[in-house]
Amino acid sequence: MDLKHKLQQLDEMNRLAELGGGQERIDKQHAAGKKTARERIIALLDPGTFQEVDKLVTHRNSDFGMEKKKFPGDGVISGYGKVNGRLVYVFAQDFTVFGGTLSRANADKIAKIQDLALKMGAPVIGLNDSGGARIQEGVESLAGYADIFYNNVMSSGVIPQISVILGPCAGGAVYSPALTDFILMVKDTSHMFVTGPEVIKTVTHEDVTKEELGGAMTHSSRSGVAHFVGKDEEQTLMITRELLSFLPSNNMEEPPLKTTVDPSEREDTTLEEIVPADPNKPYDMLDIILKVIDNKHFLEVQPHYASNIITGFARFAGHPVGIVANQPSVLAGVLDINSSAKAARFVRFCDAFNLPVVTFVDVPGFLPGTNQEFGGIIKHGAKLLYAFCEATIPKVTVITRKAYGGAYDVMSSKHIGGDVNFAYPTAEIAVMGPEGAINILYRDLSSPEEKARAVENYRDTFANPYKAAALGYIDEIIHPKSTRPKIIAALEMTRNKRKTNPVRKHGNIPL
Ligand code: HXC
Repeated sequence: MDLKHKLQQLDEMNRLAELGGGQERIDKQHAAGKKTARERIIALLDPGTFQEVDKLVTHRNSDFGMEKKKFPGDGVISGYGKVNGRLVYVFAQDFTVFGGTLSRANADKIAKIQDLALKMGAPVIGLNDSGGARIQEGVESLAGYADIFYNNVMSSGVIPQISVILGPCAGGAVYSPALTDFILMVKDTSHMFVTGPEVIKTVTHEDVTKEELGGAMTHSSRSGVAHFVGKDEEQTLMITRELLSFLPSNNMEEPPLKTTVDPSEREDTTLEEIVPADPNKPYDMLDIILKVIDNKHFLEVQPHYASNIITGFARFAGHPVGIVANQPSVLAGVLDINSSAKAARFVRFCDAFNLPVVTFVDVPGFLPGTNQEFGGIIKHGAKLLYAFCEATIPKVTVITRKAYGGAYDVMSSKHIGGDVNFAYPTAEIAVMGPEGAINILYRDLSSPEEKARAVENYRDTFANPYKAAALGYIDEIIHPKSTRPKIIAALEMTRNKRKTNPVRKHGNIPL
């Protein structure tokens, strides 16, 4: 065969690989409102940057007549490319080939990408759309999953791992996304569950739809499994790109600096109007956050889940940070099981990837109730405490109003390693709120007037930041208008922070 024919042969093989499971199945995919795996990769990456690996790999199975059904690429497209000019590794399950199911060969392709990403120190993005284990391959498929899970765990905290769910993701297959740092889902077309509606019906006699059980809104608002939801695939992939813009490529790098025109010295007098004079009146902590970060640009993580705490990414003077903030407009910003676990995982992510954490505090304490106690608020609340204590990244805290009880300690206080702790003059830092304290201290006071006087007296003495400032637990009481310049100066001061925890195999976070 001469070169011309050899080149034709190569082109034909590439054409076949690019056709996946064939035009008919591609049309079916489009009719279901889904892009093909290739289209998704193109939409995710910077134009023209995708370099495919293992395009001609086929499965090696011969049961059930499978030797006659081979598609180059075999149900997953993998390789590397760029997002915002930076290297990323990507794999996209191709639903048009055996429903994107995982064969041994297909698992090897994903594992190869994971190995490369870990070696080169760049993020892995998995685009999931699969019927799960390829039934014809039996335990070989299960072994393939296990290899991927193992790689997920070995890469955890070394390179960012992102899972985008763009179709079904069921059974044990959900555990690879669950082991990664962030899960993104698409409204209506993506589903995740360990056991599907039919199995649930048989076992527990519950009737539940696929959407109710494992749709995007379920996982972003009820279970907390998903971190972001897009209205369609395009938007979901754009959120993935935006998320990556805040992250370093690996744990040895600093997060990427983005030049900004928002002045570091910018003061904002409208910040003085946000915290209400009445301590029982709610306000929206996002109003404060948006006024102080660069260009009001905030990427909120899990906005619909445990909304009594806010987590997300922002920038100060172009440097990415993680933000954790109590949200007084939801459950008065109280800490409960879900908000503690949500924020703990976020803080640990930031710590792993060198993102300083800026914490805004307005917390009345932990949520009382049998639900919370029986649910294990003790161990879940401890997660957040643990996460802030072990985090060695720069930690800057601003107490805007309440910081009561154990929750004061937990929310990145000076005592657990806060590097710079600010408070507004409206801050109230004490063991508990005035009403609760007076009920305990003056149990016998029966007249409402005397009680009110005692409450007022307690408020004047304790419900302010001055006791904490006198002890050096608060570094500075700041004017709210100067929040942004103060935070930026603190972050600049902490930029070269060097802190290591004692050498150990690993800690034992209460799970
Ligand atoms: C082999 C499969 C398959 C599977 C789907 N297909 N699932 N082939 N193994 N697990 C094939 C179908 O035969 C079909 O092939 C093509 O993929 C598309 O599937 P359809 O059913 O036509 O598509 P759709 O109607 O959209 O339904 C998608 C689906 C459904 C919801 C994913 O196919 C389904 O329920 N599949 C079974 C899912 C499952 O039970 N998997 C095992 C889960 S347990 P043709 O040739 O007709 O196009 C698991 C364990 C992982 O995964 C363990 C990890 C530790």
